[in-house]
Amino acid sequence: MTRSFYITTPIYYVNGAPHIGHAYTSIAADVMARWKRLQGFEVFFLTGTDEHGQKVEKAAADAGLDPQSFVDKIAADFKDMARVMGISYDDFIRTTEERHKVSCAELWKRIAAAGDIYLGHYEGWYAVRDEAFYDESELTTRPDGTKVAPSGAPVEWVREPSYFFRLSAWQDRLLQFYEEHPDFIAPSSRRNEVMSFVRGGLLDLSISRTTFNWGIPVPDAPGHVMYVWLDALNNYVTACGFPDPAAPRWHYWPADLHFVGKDIIRFHAVYWPAFLMAAGLPVPKRVTSNGWWVVDGEKMSKSLGNVIEPRKLVDTFGLDQIRYFLMREKPFGADGSISHQAIISRINVELANDLGNLAQRTLSLVARNCGGQRPARGAATEDDTALLAAAQALPEALDPHMDRQTFHEALEEVWKVIRAANGYVDRQAPWALNKTDKARMGDVLRVLLDTLRAVATVLQPFMPDSMSRMLDQLGVAPDRRTLDALSLPLEDGEALPPPQGVFPRYVEPAA
Ligand code: MSP
Repeated sequence: MTRSFYITTPIYYVNGAPHIGHAYTSIAADVMARWKRLQGFEVFFLTGTDEHGQKVEKAAADAGLDPQSFVDKIAADFKDMARVMGISYDDFIRTTEERHKVSCAELWKRIAAAGDIYLGHYEGWYAVRDEAFYDESELTTRPDGTKVAPSGAPVEWVREPSYFFRLSAWQDRLLQFYEEHPDFIAPSSRRNEVMSFVRGGLLDLSISRTTFNWGIPVPDAPGHVMYVWLDALNNYVTACGFPDPAAPRWHYWPADLHFVGKDIIRFHAVYWPAFLMAAGLPVPKRVTSNGWWVVDGEKMSKSLGNVIEPRKLVDTFGLDQIRYFLMREKPFGADGSISHQAIISRINVELANDLGNLAQRTLSLVARNCGGQRPARGAATEDDTALLAAAQALPEALDPHMDRQTFHEALEEVWKVIRAANGYVDRQAPWALNKTDKARMGDVLRVLLDTLRAVATVLQPFMPDSMSRMLDQLGVAPDRRTLDALSLPLEDGEALPPPQGVFPRYVEPAA
């Protein structure tokens, strides 16, 4: 039976245009989805937009539009970003869709039926930018007297009737759950942070708002709309067809992997499992959190206005180049900064020089000296065997890194083989063998072709388009591009298409 794997991105607030931070989380989830497909999993990959709440309502008002027309416009922009970034999602959910309203109403009713919702009165601090409630003790006061949340978001005092979720009752069960599932939160620094937050004591959570109405109505409670985070988190079960147990996608639940930014780990690792447990639903297997891309030391965000537009980067450098840079430049869970120079250096050194030249040198020697045909495998020397063994072992070498989302280390494993292959070319000098030992030249080029095949196969999730072109040039049929297919040898003597460079060097345009 095919094993299924359910992966999600956060659903993005539609309060402004997408930026590279959003693209990053989506690309990481996409790399994972493509990797799992290469391994033969039946993948369900979900992304979408978070369209309710005060922040979005305010952005619509600022734009002079009614909320629905505003969110339609920005959701289309996020969908376009996913297209431009090569995100291979299976479903794009919008929280203003009817299926989601039905699902949220049912989730609410189940939690209420379990006795975990009560009516009360909220009085306290709220940050619209984070759509989050804060305790006084979490705030800091700026020199001008304004109070801000730990994220730097301004807070306002809110007083309103509200329904509450009995979060305090879930503290022990949550702690027990984290103990029993040590891989639930990644990386471990975030796990420790979440556990100490929960150990510190949980307050009941306000889950309805009454001072605006851009949200999903609370069942049988006129004037109340659901707190946007309850609505938003529930998107992950809506997309599986909740509440219909016969829905074709219901078997995907619980999710295998939620990708989230470190800013929203608390919602996914504390509130979300508590809501699900209260509703009697299974809890996701893992929440993995990425660090931030920062510009001049500050998190890039729509609200701060210091954003880098993903489409501009792609136009300047190319999509696969940007996907590679984002996955390679910093450890997934850590913060890192983007700079023009750092992108150029990754492109010119690792893509154009290390990998691009290796492929180009090999393929053009085959075209020139082997009549454009794949040479047969000859008797292997020690040097040949060592390189081929390292190349063949790539799927196993990458897998633990992919499972832990240490993508930069997965790429480092591939580059170890690429660097070894470059050392091998220099030692074997196939261009010189053309004059002295044509048979050996063929053997060497075949070792290189097989190595490149393994490299291009495992790199497909990171750089789908370039690797597909490289595999075309290596004459690997589309149905031979899975990890398993690597053990099937390619035919000797097959004619290969004329070589074409895959990774040009980036040259700064003249000013
Ligand atoms: N709508 C909520 C998520 C609800 S999920 C049920 C939300 N949306 S968001 O648009 O503000 O941000 C979503 C995600 O974008 C962040 O969690 C993070 O993954 C990503 N990023 C936003 N800014 C980022 C950076 N500057 N750097 C890296 N990732 C960033 O929160």
